[in-house]
Amino acid sequence: MTKIITNIQQLVNLRTESQPLRGSQLADLPCLQNAYLVLEGEEIAGYGEMKDLHGTKTVFGNEVIDAKGATVLPAWCDSHTHIVFAASREAEFVDKIKGLSYAEIANRGGGILNSAAKLNATNEDALFASAWKRLEELSRLGTGAVEIKSGYGLSVEGELKMLRVIRRLKEKSNLSIKSTFLGAHAYPLQYREHHDGYIDSIINEMLPVIGREALADYIDVFCETGFFSPEEMEKVCRAGMQWGLKPKLHVNQLNSIGGIEKGIDLGALTMDHLETVTEEDIEMLAGVKPTFSGNLWKGISTLLPSAAFFLRMPLQPARRLIDSGAAVALASDYNPGSSPSGNMNLVVALSCIQMRMLPQEAINAATLNGAYAMGLGNELGSISIGKKANLIFTKPIPSLAYFPYSFGSNLIDRVMIRGEWIS
Ligand code: NIG
Ligand code: FE
Repeated sequence: MTKIITNIQQLVNLRTESQPLRGSQLADLPCLQNAYLVLEGEEIAGYGEMKDLHGTKTVFGNEVIDAKGATVLPAWCDSHTHIVFAASREAEFVDKIKGLSYAEIANRGGGILNSAAKLNATNEDALFASAWKRLEELSRLGTGAVEIKSGYGLSVEGELKMLRVIRRLKEKSNLSIKSTFLGAHAYPLQYREHHDGYIDSIINEMLPVIGREALADYIDVFCETGFFSPEEMEKVCRAGMQWGLKPKLHVNQLNSIGGIEKGIDLGALTMDHLETVTEEDIEMLAGVKPTFSGNLWKGISTLLPSAAFFLRMPLQPARRLIDSGAAVALASDYNPGSSPSGNMNLVVALSCIQMRMLPQEAINAATLNGAYAMGLGNELGSISIGKKANLIFTKPIPSLAYFPYSFGSNLIDRVMIRGEWIS
């Protein structure tokens, strides 16, 4: 079925060829004014200016959709989330208001361990149902692709249960989903003084099942003081890589302890968070030119501003990273502890308002670079012939900058995933 979308005020992020954008490339966001767009089934098949759309293209049998002056963007590609969880954690939110830090809450058994206890007591169907609702909400907010991590099981059964939930989400949803194994998210209490025992369980009990059943696309480790050291991260990643899982890592959220250097060494696809970075860390991230290796790019710096915002931390140094040449992506980190929101519109707005990213840079980082940050750059993230028709249609807006500027308004009129409207 051919669909012709007419009267698009502005068609955003048009690319004939693409690769991850770094440094000054991020500010270049190719757009077409007064445009039409042609879809064949679930893919983008063509586009052009309205003045060039002649009768032949609107022949009988094609569905014509009048965009009525909407701006059309590629749907958001959210490359870092934890949307499979059993319960919210607003009591900790109140504790933080009263003055406790994220690390203090974690140290007294709250935080990730709190989520793990609840997840292990919840069955797979219930986890699936709640994650499905979150996924539906995300698609209404304009997200068309999501990476989802395990990491709240911290036991063989719990981690496998989470990954099976993600597999069911992949099977049922129209959204493009990638799955990441984050068994190394925190040490369960019984392994607090016995790290090797838990790492052994990850390597010898979890990974073989995950590998054999192809339950994950990537491997992640929370490299942080009080969690996993760079050396422990390396051990876990190297074992995951034996099963074909490329690293996508949590580094430098609270402390700079060598995670970036190790991540680059491991050829990580992405290094995520980056709230706490030294000048040397920035140089290292800027110096790692994204290269194509083993079917995937590597060396993308993913910023999660809503996590920094929610934890009342200084936001990531996006300006310094971009100005030094880094390939920056943006993601929501949607999780119950540090970012109980998966709203990428807010992420884009925060990036412009608090991190001084230009609207063009933020949109590129949340679409094309987000797609590359989860290995989907060939099929998503820009308006390109052959890519999936995952599209945001805005309400009438005077300019693209109005979108992040008007941060409290819902400016999305409707969303299309793989050529179909979402309800
Ligand atoms: O990305 N920092 C580690 N993991 C999550 C938070 C997990 C939690 O608090 O539940 C994050 O921020
Ligand atoms: Fe995270």
